[in-house]
Amino acid sequence: ARIPVICIDGPTASGKGTLAAEVAQRLGYHLLDSGALYRLVGLAAGKAGLSTAEDDLRQPDQAQRLGTLAAGLQVRFDGPRIWLDSVEVSDALRSEVAGMAASRVSAVPEVRAALLTLQHGFRRLPGLVADGRDMGTVIFPDAPLKVYLTASAEQRAQRRYKQLISKGIAANIDSLLADLEKRDHRDSSRAHAPLKPAEDALQLDNSGLDVEQSVQQVLNWWQGKT
Ligand code: C5P
Repeated sequence: ARIPVICIDGPTASGKGTLAAEVAQRLGYHLLDSGALYRLVGLAAGKAGLSTAEDDLRQPDQAQRLGTLAAGLQVRFDGPRIWLDSVEVSDALRSEVAGMAASRVSAVPEVRAALLTLQHGFRRLPGLVADGRDMGTVIFPDAPLKVYLTASAEQRAQRRYKQLISKGIAANIDSLLADLEKRDHRDSSRAHAPLKPAEDALQLDNSGLDVEQSVQQVLNWWQGKT
């Protein structure tokens, strides 16, 4: 039998990361935060002096350069901590700017192709919980459980706002909402691996749920599969 994978896909700030980490911990599974990989590519591009402006990314040679950069990423993961070229970037990756850059570079097919093998490498025993946009549709299409997590845009902006404020980072709720809708739109409308539920995904709207209730729902579904 193949190594089990639980996929959790959904829009920006839907709570995928928190849910995936919690489910992985309860099951003793590995964790793949695939968004971090696209954030890393954005960050590495900045360091290498490569533009991630949308107009530039439409140029074939620029897309090629970015793909090469993604294929050669020097990264190390240790639980939630991440290093790029031996420098810890865990905090830098979480910024809204990094999220926006990730959304732009992730539309480049060369980048997505370069990250495929890296992502498959996370599938190790006893199992994997993977979160992102295309875990169930493209990366692990044979996963026995695929969850599509949603919440209203207002709820998601509110959560992101609280997260930032609690970290002492200044934030504005209206601009967060605008950014989030812009990112959702770009992620859902791109030609390659757009954000959408897999045909066999189970939908979970966590608007009225706390983290524990969402975790229990996923664990119940998982029990039904095994
Ligand atoms: O989930 P997170 O906010 O960290 O993802 C950052 C960006 O990376 C997303 O807006 C999306 O454009 C991209 N992404 C992707 N495919 C994934 C995960 C993230 O295209 N599997």
